[in-house]
Amino acid sequence: MGAPGFDVERIRKDFPILARELPGGRPLVYLDSGNSSQKPTQVIETMRDHLAWHYGNVGRALHVLGSESTDAYEAARDKVAAFVSAPSRDEIVFTKNASEALNLVAYAFGNPIGEDERFRIGPGDEIVISEMEHHSNIVPWQLLAQRTGATLRWFPVTDEGRLDIERLDELVNERTKIVSIVHQSNVLGTVNSISPILARVREVGALMMVDASQSVPHQPVDVTELGVDFVAFTGHKMVGPSGIGVLWGRRELLDAMPPFLGGGEMIEAVWMDHSTYAPVPHKFEAGTPPIVEAIGLGAAVDYLTAVGMDQIKAHEKELVAYALEALREVPGLRIIGPRTAIARGGTVSFTLEGIHPHDVGQILDDVYGIAVRVGHHCARPLHLRFGIPATTRASFYLYNTTAEIDALVRGLHHVQKVFG
Ligand SMILES: Cc1ncc(COP(=O)(O)O)c(C=O)c1O
Repeated sequence: MGAPGFDVERIRKDFPILARELPGGRPLVYLDSGNSSQKPTQVIETMRDHLAWHYGNVGRALHVLGSESTDAYEAARDKVAAFVSAPSRDEIVFTKNASEALNLVAYAFGNPIGEDERFRIGPGDEIVISEMEHHSNIVPWQLLAQRTGATLRWFPVTDEGRLDIERLDELVNERTKIVSIVHQSNVLGTVNSISPILARVREVGALMMVDASQSVPHQPVDVTELGVDFVAFTGHKMVGPSGIGVLWGRRELLDAMPPFLGGGEMIEAVWMDHSTYAPVPHKFEAGTPPIVEAIGLGAAVDYLTAVGMDQIKAHEKELVAYALEALREVPGLRIIGPRTAIARGGTVSFTLEGIHPHDVGQILDDVYGIAVRVGHHCARPLHLRFGIPATTRASFYLYNTTAEIDALVRGLHHVQKVFG
């Protein structure tokens, strides 16, 4: 199976952990990449090599190691910019993760530099999100609403697990300042169509952010084509290390935004009573950044590019179509999210009648070495919407196979046997 030229067995060899035997000799079946992905040798070795031979602080040391580190860190920025087709490398801000990127933008509202109306927000103004957001794209906006008196509103989700935009014109209106929507749901797998929402956002003169934490790792994402104002994503879900995330923003907006954190390297000059700030992106990168993590992300981007994002998307589409079909065989299994492979990614969340997801996850792990995630996956409001406290989630990536999905189905039958 697979797209032409896509060899999943060859790809699996790049990920040392996939060859690991778990205690008791069980092979690892890793179906938790939506949580965090595994890392190929290319990323591990790049980081190891940098730490072993080139490490120094960036931006401030004049010696050889300082300049080698700065070059590698800034080269990673170039790679990430090219990966998402950012118009300028200066529009790529390295953060700690996607959560920090989302918080950084939320912080700018209500704290504008000068008189910039776009970031002024207060009572009577509105922020729009959706019911399918990860907590990282809910809580920063709740904090903003609490801080400024603005109102938080949200798109509902249909029974099928799609964004319900029937009330788009009412929800996004002249009072709206910012709309922030997930590109691909980490629970439902749903891939949202951004353009109809963006068209309305432009009509009313608001700004739009996209949480692309689950789309940038799995499909080609071109921020210019997407046309929004801000995009957030995170390194550890895209075969890169943890500790590094990305905010892409339009240059002109980033220039108009206040710094988020203060410290070394984000300044131009400092007096005892005030400071001036470095140009973007450095204005947003206070202190020693995650140097080796950024370099690792650069290697991850090289790796994904070499495999081909179109190929990865096609492979995952085949996997999810196979999984949706195979899971039908399991009695009492209810999929939360779209049941066809159309406009959805490789994440499948489900409930098993009468069995708590924690028990499902425990048995899959103990007996079969299958790693899935159980709980609300940091999307509690979405679970409340479906009237359930938790789900079991299998999430696929470029290194997964249909044999692993077969193992999951066998494991679920076993779980049902155990629970009678
Ligand atoms: C859709 C979505 N947004 C945001 C995040 C947060 O990513 P991080 O924990 O790296 O900040 C996640 C992680 O699970 C996610 O799935």
